Amino acid sequence: MKFFIDTANLDQIKEANDLGILDGVTTNPSLMAKEGVKGADAVMKHYETICEMVDGDISAEVVSTETQAIIEEGKKLAAIHPNIVVKVPMIKDGIKAIKWFSDNGIKTNCTLVFSAGQAILAAKAGANYLSPFIGRIDDSGWEGIQLIQQIANIFAIQGFKTEILAASIRNTNHIIQCAEAGANVVTSPLEPILGLLKHPLTDIGLAKFLEDAKKFQ
Ligand code: G3P
Repeated sequence: MKFFIDTANLDQIKEANDLGILDGVTTNPSLMAKEGVKGADAVMKHYETICEMVDGDISAEVVSTETQAIIEEGKKLAAIHPNIVVKVPMIKDGIKAIKWFSDNGIKTNCTLVFSAGQAILAAKAGANYLSPFIGRIDDSGWEGIQLIQQIANIFAIQGFKTEILAASIRNTNHIIQCAEAGANVVTSPLEPILGLLKHPLTDIGLAKFLEDAKKFQ
């Protein structure tokens, strides 16, 4: 399973990348706005900086909603760096644009996926990744992880090549559940990733080893 970080914060991207386990980055308009990135040039520069920092797929989201406009915007984003993946919303015009990108060698991530039917359409259109938002499904009283299991099952039966990129991760356990459910990628904020390091018995065990080591130093 690949690990992406879901943020536009450069310090957090660096911290995750320094761990040596980062395979890519996902962003969205809300995450860009959170970092105070303003204006088309600044946005493009920010993506370029991320691409220079991390050697992996970097999702950059379009804000257009009409097929031709999505294509034009996506072409500009893809021109920033070979690792850019154009993130396109799961709408009818988005599916048409994903098909165009797929036919023209531009990688895509179909975002805002909340059902298996949407996942099938994204795969048929040729998306490289699709992003089910499991945290938002949990927030609405359903089990987000069940959607990952269902899509993974369908894709295994059908042989679809689109990678399941589990998004909207809220906690460390989500990452573990995604691994069990067959997600190809998890994109997570930094804290749930760092949470994977933690276990109280590790801390207790290490403290004891270091204390005992003083006896023979
Ligand atoms: O990048 C898309 C997704 O991960 C958003 O997560 O926390 O806003 O539901 P969240």
